[in-house]
Amino acid sequence: MAELRAQFPEFRRIRSALRPTYPADAPLLQRWRAEPSVRRHQPLSDVSLGQLRAELALNRVDDLYRGRGDKFQWIVLADTEPAGWITLVVTNWEHGLAELGYALTTQYQRRGLMVEGLNLLLADLFFRTGIERLEARCSVENIGSQKVLTKLGFRQEGRLQGYFVLDGKRVDNYLYAILREDFVPPPA
Ligand SMILES: CC(C)(COP(=O)(O)OP(=O)(O)OC[C@H]1O[C@@H](n2cnc3c(N)ncnc32)[C@H](O)[C@@H]1OP(=O)(O)O)[C@@H](O)C(=O)NCCC(=O)NCCS
Repeated sequence: MAELRAQFPEFRRIRSALRPTYPADAPLLQRWRAEPSVRRHQPLSDVSLGQLRAELALNRVDDLYRGRGDKFQWIVLADTEPAGWITLVVTNWEHGLAELGYALTTQYQRRGLMVEGLNLLLADLFFRTGIERLEARCSVENIGSQKVLTKLGFRQEGRLQGYFVLDGKRVDNYLYAILREDFVPPPA
């Protein structure tokens, strides 16, 4: 079996992990945001390296555990390789409300990595912070994203008409959400 894995590395099991983003990740994020598969179902504007670096310099993940701050970002690792990113926007600390965004670079899509990465984050958020309700939105055509959210236990709560503009067309989105009490951590 080990020999087979060495012969066909694509069948090797890749584990997902998370680390906070740093300003040095700006070129990576700029490259990923430009990939057609990453942009297919979400409007991502072109952002300069300077803007990205400035935004990443504000990322203070420790604040999350102190109940303050409003935007946080992580790099999703495939084993040790950077494979994508997750963004969390806390919209209301008083009521424990936050929103998720996420994407994987093309070569790491469809390998089960995002469910694993988000499960790690959800466990951390629900067990270690005041977040009570997490929301995510995705285009009604983004089947991969809908499957990921369903696997994590998110419920589809409604259809948001013409929610954003993609390639000049208004696109409907689904709103998904999960409450802390409904989160079931995956077996270790
Ligand atoms: C959407 C995304 C996050 C899914 O993560 P992933 O790790 O690739 O997803 P998985 O490998 O766990 O796949 C989950 C399911 O979706 C399916 N799927 C994944 N990508 C798909 C696609 N482009 N079209 C159709 N089905 C897809 C998989 O076949 C799998 O189906 P199954 O559970 O029936 O086997 C990832 O593909 C991605 O980053 N895409 C580009 C950016 C993006 O759309 N981000 C989300 C914005 S809301």
